[in-house]
Amino acid sequence: MARLTPVTPVTPVTRYAVPAALAALLSAGVASPAFALDVDAAKSLAQSNNCTQCHGIKKDKDAPAFLKIAEKYKGKAGAEDELLKHVTSGKKVKLADGSQEDHKIVKTIPANDQAQMRNLIKWILATQ
Ligand code: HEC
Repeated sequence: MARLTPVTPVTPVTRYAVPAALAALLSAGVASPAFALDVDAAKSLAQSNNCTQCHGIKKDKDAPAFLKIAEKYKGKAGAEDELLKHVTSGKKVKLADGSQEDHKIVKTIPANDQAQMRNLIKWILATQ
């Protein structure tokens, strides 16, 4: 009769830590951990994409301030998706001086990273 190989006991999986981003938010004292907005990541993406060359955070430049955009979309259903489309489709926009150009398309590393783009949009919409 064949002998059964002893079964190695399965080590229970240990939950190591709260994910780093959440931990950072919590330590920063952000009130709602469910809304995991990474402000630093959003800012640096906006800077590396030169968004702030045309959009001030609170001041209009060649384009409306992020504050104005946040106010315009406040409480609107689907705002996040609409703006996500805006920053990925390169549609024609009118600058303050009346000239037109194709809107900047957000570049992420790695390319087309939806999570980074959504975080950027959430940050814009949260401007106050
Ligand atoms: C060359 C100038 C310029 C740059 C650079 C630029 N934008 Fe814009 N953006 C505009 C203009 C002009 C508008 C249109 C304003 C309008 O028509 O109401 C606009 C509109 C927007 C809107 C709002 C659209 C709406 O429906 O109200 C968002 C969001 C936005 N830009 C985000 C960004 C982000 C994110 C970046 C960086 C990736 C960026 N923009 C870079 C000029 C610029």
